[in-house]
Amino acid sequence: MRRIAVLTSGGDAPGMNAAIRAVVRTAIYEGMEVYGVERGYEGLIDGDFHEMDVASVGGILHRGGTVLRTARSERFMTEAGRTKALAMLETFEIDGLVVIGGDGSMHGAAELEKAGVTVMCLPGTIDNDMGYTDYTIGFDTAINTVLSAIGNIRDTSSSHERTTIIEVMGRNCGDIGLHAGVAGGAEQILIPEIPLDLNALCRKILQGINRGKKHSIIIRAEGVELSSEALGAEIAKRTGLEVKIVVLGYIQRGGSPTARDRMLASRLGYKAVELLKANSTSKAIGISGDEIVAYDLSDALEYKSELDPTLLALAEVLSI
Ligand code: F6P
Repeated sequence: MRRIAVLTSGGDAPGMNAAIRAVVRTAIYEGMEVYGVERGYEGLIDGDFHEMDVASVGGILHRGGTVLRTARSERFMTEAGRTKALAMLETFEIDGLVVIGGDGSMHGAAELEKAGVTVMCLPGTIDNDMGYTDYTIGFDTAINTVLSAIGNIRDTSSSHERTTIIEVMGRNCGDIGLHAGVAGGAEQILIPEIPLDLNALCRKILQGINRGKKHSIIIRAEGVELSSEALGAEIAKRTGLEVKIVVLGYIQRGGSPTARDRMLASRLGYKAVELLKANSTSKAIGISGDEIVAYDLSDALEYKSELDPTLLALAEVLSI
């Protein structure tokens, strides 16, 4: 393994820069050349490669986003796009590629693997929706951002005696909502994996008020079928309460990564290069407990992301 490349793909996530830094520095330490590919698979198709040195990843560890930029590449979904990308990897004589991204990026990497490219995948997404790893890079920062928002919103909800719906991201996965909701003491946590029971929801809000609660914080993960607006209107209609809606949006995808995300990203980036150095076949690298683990890509793609049932039970008990 002489020359490797690294790219970030899909939605950006805090800690991607820490992963890039770990890949670049470990590769140079091991005597390899390393290229950064700009804008994910888009840059792979266009040949947007540049050599990286130790200094090029200085001062990025604490920064959110990704210095390599990212994209959701439509072109890479086509045969023609992938053929161009493969040709670029040959032109630049790349022996191994590190892909940092979510589920879609890993499917893309699996296509490259089929064509004979050695790819190491690192899970980079705030959603924590990749079944083969306990945590993805960016998740911890995102839930801490949501937590800080819950604290602020609670102050004003309580002062005005309001019910507030806080909409969080996560696509079809409820992990951001569940973790931030438990840690933030939300009165209700609505996630796509659990069917919505409007009667139970309104009952619980009213029971809380009847025993002296000044406010209700409802976390609604974006994958929940009923939109925040429709949910708010329904609660207001059924309870007569004033309902406000706060959509956190991209605020939870940016920001300086937490220590946990920096550590995870650094460990995963290091492992990716060590595996490339050992001439390993393509792998998806993740964390299980406190151990860094690596699976064949096809196996990793089979794992389904599942909610922690003990956490669900905990949320139920603590929010009575
Ligand atoms: O995958 C990360 C994520 O932020 C999801 O939580 C969200 O559904 C999606 O990306 C938003 O995508 P976009 O950046 O294309 O708006």
